[in-house]
Amino acid sequence: MITDEKEASKAYNFMANQYHDLRTKKYPGYWMYNELLEVPSTIELLGNVNGKKILDFGCGSGIYTKNLTKRGAIIKGFDISEEMLKIAKAENPGLDLRLGSGYKIPFDEKFDIVFASLVLDYFSNWDKAFKQVKKVLKKGGFFIFSIGNPVSECTKKIKIRGQKLRVLGKISYFDEKKLYATWKNIRGKNIKVVSNHKTYETIIKTILKNDFEIVDYKDCFPLEKAKKLFPQEYAFTSKFPYFCAWKVKLK
Ligand SMILES: C[S@@+](CC[C@H](N)C(=O)[O-])C[C@H]1O[C@@H](n2cnc3c(N)ncnc32)[C@H](O)[C@@H]1O
Repeated sequence: MITDEKEASKAYNFMANQYHDLRTKKYPGYWMYNELLEVPSTIELLGNVNGKKILDFGCGSGIYTKNLTKRGAIIKGFDISEEMLKIAKAENPGLDLRLGSGYKIPFDEKFDIVFASLVLDYFSNWDKAFKQVKKVLKKGGFFIFSIGNPVSECTKKIKIRGQKLRVLGKISYFDEKKLYATWKNIRGKNIKVVSNHKTYETIIKTILKNDFEIVDYKDCFPLEKAKKLFPQEYAFTSKFPYFCAWKVKLK
């Protein structure tokens, strides 16, 4: 395993049960960020998936896998974390979900869509991942992925005269280095999660040089119902671009 894979599998093996709980139960800080912010934009880019053959790249605990199966898609998937995959299999009995890495996709058939929600953040080498996606995508097929917003992930929290603000400067936007975040573990020991910052320039150039064209893009904006359910999180995410989602097509 290369470093990225080791870091991601270690974190997600440790956090698997908690991650799935936080994603599926209504904990304000977490559930809202996915279900009312990232998921709606990504689902919009996916459009009508009925009858489409989709590869769930980094399927995690199988939340999207289940959602897309319900919408009529024919899904296969893989993930680097054994513990996440265990949950995904239990949640999606009978589906072909494999242990494997996006650096060496464990399938050699072709798909209509490759879909990677919040996974590429764990890749330092996007070019390698895109080359792998190309191998399993039909000509004219779509690669749809969501990530942390490249600008906002460089920000840090500060407080000025009692007002909480976010300013650029955690790292330089131009410095494509690893970002370290500590995820609180509700069962005790916290864990360091490592992600990889990329600039828009690198992302766009990687897309274009791998023979994809950008057909759609979304700055994830929270659903209106979040305003009432989670006012604090809504106030923040309706001003601050937290996630973004991309739809690119293989030429
Ligand atoms: C934030 S979770 C998202 C899971 C799922 N896509 C979802 O949206 O519910 C990130 C997932 O990416 C997986 N991952 C990270 N690096 C990977 C790699 N190199 N290959 C495959 N999966 C990877 C992790 O194990 C984890 O399950």
